[in-house]
Amino acid sequence: MKRVWQECIECRSVYDADAVRYRCDCGGLLEVSIDIESLGDISWERFRSRRFNVWRYIELLPFEDHEHAVSLEEGGTPLYKADRLAEWLGAKNVYIKYEGMNPTGSFKDRGMCVGITKALKLGARGVACASTGNTAASLAAYSAKAGIPCIVVVPKEVVALGKLFQALLYGAKVVRLHGTFDEALSLVWKASEEVGVYLLNSINPWRLEGQKTVAFETVDQLGRVPRYVVLPVGNCGNIAAAWKGFKEMEMAGLINEKPSMVGIQSEGASPFVDLVKEGLETLRPVETPKTVASAIRIGRPVNWKKALLAVKESGGLVAKVSDAEIIQAQRMLASLEGIGVEPAAAASVAGVKKLIESGDIDADETIVCVCTGSMLKDPNPELIKGLEPTEIVPELGLVRDLLASLLSR
Ligand code: F0G
Repeated sequence: MKRVWQECIECRSVYDADAVRYRCDCGGLLEVSIDIESLGDISWERFRSRRFNVWRYIELLPFEDHEHAVSLEEGGTPLYKADRLAEWLGAKNVYIKYEGMNPTGSFKDRGMCVGITKALKLGARGVACASTGNTAASLAAYSAKAGIPCIVVVPKEVVALGKLFQALLYGAKVVRLHGTFDEALSLVWKASEEVGVYLLNSINPWRLEGQKTVAFETVDQLGRVPRYVVLPVGNCGNIAAAWKGFKEMEMAGLINEKPSMVGIQSEGASPFVDLVKEGLETLRPVETPKTVASAIRIGRPVNWKKALLAVKESGGLVAKVSDAEIIQAQRMLASLEGIGVEPAAAASVAGVKKLIESGDIDADETIVCVCTGSMLKDPNPELIKGLEPTEIVPELGLVRDLLASLLSR
């Protein structure tokens, strides 16, 4: 039997794996721990004899097996070598881990398959989340698959239309709150505890267990450990999850070095970057976060202490980027590589550009950008501006001239 428990990242108090709680009695964040030393035979060969998805790494997941897993074949996303983008960035070896290829088009599916599987094991009768959009879409899909009723609460103003449509179509009860994401999370969290609905935001440590597989896959695909792993940061869960993945691979003897974790936020929603850069003792929340990257429009990230550990322990870096830089990175990634990502996902590429220009990232080293969501989620007019199609009447001459112009370039 694999030994699995929940543990406070601050006071190290231990809780049973089946205790439904989202914080320690001391207020600290909880993480799921697995007794990795006792796992026995773990090897890349063994992993690679299995299908390429989240469940390939079952030994390092907090379940005995995946017989009862709620799965839509999440994970197993491409790692593209992006040479034309690298040239634009002024770097040598740039890879894009394209999480838009997950079943609902974002990395959230990695965590939600584990989160919903845990919910079923616990006998949950209803699940809920607050979301800037992707968590809502993912939870809606996995609760549909599991047959559990689901409520998702999103901020009224700023959710990408594609994400909203996903949650509606998958059959969730979708609630638009006249307030921010941070208000939505705080309310849904309190109410979930009061009525006994299972909360599947990233404050739930089981979600992060699935999300850590992005680290496993990156090493599995690359065949080595990159120097930098760059992620967009919102509620601060995913960067912590990826770091946990690297630490566990080292504990299991699968790797013998670890990357620096690099967290990128938007200028209008950068409480975590400010915390790190200014060396603050505690988070200074942003009351009205603003950015074109609506997925990471978050002013009070609940997992900031975990993300801070990830950046500190890994000798990592942070940077903030403007909306214009995000849009430019989104366009360059799409037009140079054919990889279409949503603005939050493009923030990682924009951040790399900035950190190479400032000399903080060594451009000769291997850089992996985790691009967290698909472009199809967010066809917002602000993102289309300047890319509009050419309009013509139906005349052969016009079409001929246009086609000929391709050859005269
Ligand atoms: N990228 C995308 C596309 C996201 O949707 C999110 C978070 C992040 C990055 C940041 O990850 O929160 O773990 O630091 N989206 C959440 C949601 C908040 O509700 O969909 P994080």
